[in-house]
Amino acid sequence: MTRAAAPAETVELRVRRFDPTTDARPYWTRYVVAVRPKMSVLDALFAVLEEQDGTLGFRYSCRAAMCGSCAMVIDGREALACATRLARLGRRITVEPLRRLPIVKDLVTDMEPFWAKWAMVTPYFVGGRYREPAVIPPDSGRREIIDAQLDCITCAACYSACPIVASNPRYLGPAALNRAYNLVADERDTATAQRLATVCSEDGAFSCRNAFNCVEVCPQGIDPQRSILRLRQRVLVGA
Ligand code: FES
Repeated sequence: MTRAAAPAETVELRVRRFDPTTDARPYWTRYVVAVRPKMSVLDALFAVLEEQDGTLGFRYSCRAAMCGSCAMVIDGREALACATRLARLGRRITVEPLRRLPIVKDLVTDMEPFWAKWAMVTPYFVGGRYREPAVIPPDSGRREIIDAQLDCITCAACYSACPIVASNPRYLGPAALNRAYNLVADERDTATAQRLATVCSEDGAFSCRNAFNCVEVCPQGIDPQRSILRLRQRVLVGA
């Protein structure tokens, strides 16, 4: 006797859609997706793309929580789609593009405003008389000041979640300020003065209102708030 297969468990994805070249305003589309073991939100979007709707736009690259490309707003909170398992969510899931950034199509945002602010803090090491490799002894403890804040994957989740970016589009934002602090705290770097000048600007570290949204959503566990506080300290008391 053959036994009927159990109906597959499903989830309902509600995806915010918008194509600025054809749509007057954003709208929601509902998809029902059969759940597979260990399925992530990104896997579910692929299932929609391949089986239901080839017009759905989303961005990804590594599929391993390393590149930051798949950051989006899942059930109202910024997260990496490839690192968010359906098992941790309910049966109805909302998926939206990152906030505070122009929409290219559906879940794909234009990262240009984020990168423009990143560029403003001189986001690279300026070595001066120092040459790589590092001259700071690994066991000195001096490197540990920035170790915890170094792993930013520039996914822009913090930028999207920041209420100050929402109210002041010129605000540099948590990721750029965190990057600035990492370089300011690097004793080999020689561009500290120009970075601190940018950080002290009207739209820099002193505009932060300590909402901590950036800390809550960072998929790397970075605390940009801490970097911002240290930048302020550096400017005010030179420490
Ligand atoms: S696809 Fe690279 S972080 Fe998700």
